[in-house]
Amino acid sequence: MNIDKIKNLLKTKYIGKAILFLEQIDSTNNYLKNLEVAENSDGLVVIAENQTKGRGRYDRKWYSQPGKNLTFSVLMTPTKTNLETKILPIITASAICKAVENYTGIHIHTKWPNDLILNGKKLGGILIETTFETHLKKIIIGIGLNVNQSSFDNEVKLIATSLYLNNGREYDREVLLSHILNSLDEMYHKLILNDYLDYIEDWKMRCNHFKKTIIFEYNGESYKGIARELTKDGCLIVNSDGKDIKIFSGEIFINKEG
Ligand code: BTN
Repeated sequence: MNIDKIKNLLKTKYIGKAILFLEQIDSTNNYLKNLEVAENSDGLVVIAENQTKGRGRYDRKWYSQPGKNLTFSVLMTPTKTNLETKILPIITASAICKAVENYTGIHIHTKWPNDLILNGKKLGGILIETTFETHLKKIIIGIGLNVNQSSFDNEVKLIATSLYLNNGREYDREVLLSHILNSLDEMYHKLILNDYLDYIEDWKMRCNHFKKTIIFEYNGESYKGIARELTKDGCLIVNSDGKDIKIFSGEIFINKEG
């Protein structure tokens, strides 16, 4: 990957002042977790061509064919310590969808809280991790996006897709990444200003599981319900047996028949 090419396309205030490119690492999120925060850490981007222990949510593995996709993490070390971090999954997903759409013209859907969906399959995922030391110290946004991968192993074949599989086109990963970093920068700026309602509206527009039956876990039990609404703080309202339940975190499964 050509890092200068990416940098030349950036219009950012915070993100991408420093970009680190690694041929191989266990996980770009791990790399940033272990990194000592320095004065110029805010907005640092770490890209890996290959992750040997790429991680997804719930300790799942993140599979990505080396050299074909985007696997990277962005570090944010905001000085404003009372940021609404719980809205990050929603607004990050929206920011990435906007960027991908802007460059490729392909409409990307969202699945609560932060999956990126194309043709009903997973195009990308986001792993957000925060660290605290008396106050918020690091926000690590790890992103895996399937770009030019043309086939997937049996294990994930039925649930994963890529931009390439959508239309047989290969996309320039550096240009795509620069669009994403520009979009994340705008989102970060809006988060600091507490002015992110547009992202919530955009997320809702992209979500195609409203009014559908979903399965979700709540207080350790599994429920079925109809996904109704997204609140301003990023929770999903699900109507289960006539009662509205507010889900703060977790994973949902969309019932194909519903
Ligand atoms: C998910 O959908 O479960 C989240 C997947 C996040 C994968 C990315 S790839 C770059 C970064 N490094 C990791 O180890 N994970 C994230």
